[in-house]
Amino acid sequence: SPARPLKGRRVIVTAGPTHEPIDPVRYIANRSSGRQGFAVAGALAKLGAEVTLVSGPTHLATPDGVSRVDVETAWQMQAAVRKALPADIAVCVAAVADWRVEGEGAQKIKKTKAGIPALNLVENPDILAGLSSMKEGRPALIVGFAAETEQVIDFARAKRDRKGCDWIVANDVSAAGGAMGGADNQIHLITREGEENWPRLPKEQVADRLAHRIASHFGV
Ligand code: C5P
Repeated sequence: SPARPLKGRRVIVTAGPTHEPIDPVRYIANRSSGRQGFAVAGALAKLGAEVTLVSGPTHLATPDGVSRVDVETAWQMQAAVRKALPADIAVCVAAVADWRVEGEGAQKIKKTKAGIPALNLVENPDILAGLSSMKEGRPALIVGFAAETEQVIDFARAKRDRKGCDWIVANDVSAAGGAMGGADNQIHLITREGEENWPRLPKEQVADRLAHRIASHFGV
């Protein structure tokens, strides 16, 4: 129906930061609020999609009509995404930590005379790239986000190629752009066909517009 063009489509959205433990009481995190990802999940649900929102730690309320799975780490996020498959559409908005601390200890690290501990970092799985390279059951449309501070469009195009996703939503997170943690977002949508420059909009409107763009991609 025109009001619910994504009815029956299964969608996975990742959102928020991840927390990577150092020991039982400490972790490494980032400044993602989850706001843009939650708005995307809500906008897709409003268009009738069956949305599973895999969320890192945030303080946000679950949007109407969305099933939510809460996770902390990148590994847990990847496992939750895999469990939510199959899906027609995946939108990876989460700010996944690139690294985690190797061999998280079971005990709190103590301050000792032996000196300051060194943290050894190892690479986290890339959830977006993993989905994009699936040989069987790959979602038909995979959308990644790219936060850049310079050469936004060139870097985003390169990211689309590198990750193997279909679209990249690129935004300028330089201090002048103010997107990170802010209310507005100015984005460029990079597809195989080219790019669209959208006006600066509140994150909710970016999400609505993206959801409608996805619906029109599916021809409805
Ligand atoms: O490489 P970069 O982190 O800038 O790429 C951003 C995009 O990749 C976002 O869509 C993000 O959700 C996704 N990503 C991911 N898993 C990672 C790192 C990034 O899904 N480990």
